[in-house]
Amino acid sequence: MTRDEFRDRLLEIMERKQHWAWPAFTSGLVSKAKLHLHLEQEYAVYVRDFPVLVGRAYVQCPIPAVRRELAENLYEEETGGLHAGKPHPELFLEYPKGLGFDLRRFETVELLPAAREYRHALDRLTTSNGWAVSAAVVTLFIEGTPYERALFDPKAPARPEPPLEAHPLVRHYGMPVEALALTRAHRGVEGQHRLSAWRVMLDHVPADERPHVLEGLEDALQAWLTWRDEVARVCGVTRSAIAQP
Ligand SMILES: [Fe+2]
Ligand SMILES: [Fe+2]
Repeated sequence: MTRDEFRDRLLEIMERKQHWAWPAFTSGLVSKAKLHLHLEQEYAVYVRDFPVLVGRAYVQCPIPAVRRELAENLYEEETGGLHAGKPHPELFLEYPKGLGFDLRRFETVELLPAAREYRHALDRLTTSNGWAVSAAVVTLFIEGTPYERALFDPKAPARPEPPLEAHPLVRHYGMPVEALALTRAHRGVEGQHRLSAWRVMLDHVPADERPHVLEGLEDALQAWLTWRDEVARVCGVTRSAIAQP
């Protein structure tokens, strides 16, 4: 597999990181009471421990140039010391706080069955498959979006970035704009994390590891899709409700 083929296969997987129920979360279709569940599961399944997941790729990697990229990402996610000013998992909690939710619930979240499966997949892929799979799953899959192709192709659709006042949590759920601290921080720093993830994948993953990385990402994607089906179900979102908003 050439470098270009590898890049295309990675992009194809990322382009499938989309879920049919997502429009219900961005159009106000999900009730505010149910939105609680969505945020709690997101937080407990990967947001809270995201810096630790980056750290798992870091400790397994024998390549200093890659470790430096991961260390910078880890430092920012864990402390906000380079950009956001606060740890990113803490900034995430500004969303439920701004929505008036009970933050104590975020300390004792019980993962739903498919959330537990997704987390098991993330734990397995980040601990027992080598540094390349670990870095791919954490920095490309978890942090990435279906719009990665725009980094390489100016004609590919870019990730939509509406003004913060038009953010769905503000527009449909009455959250104050100030509570979008994480969104603001990500708009400032996440572009660097995307470029760093791709540099690591394309310049440093050994050619014979590429198929292994693709398999790992596909596993992560399947577990993610099943988890998102479950979140849609508990939030009362059905395909027919999406079809006729
Ligand atoms: Fe972040
Ligand atoms: Fe990041």
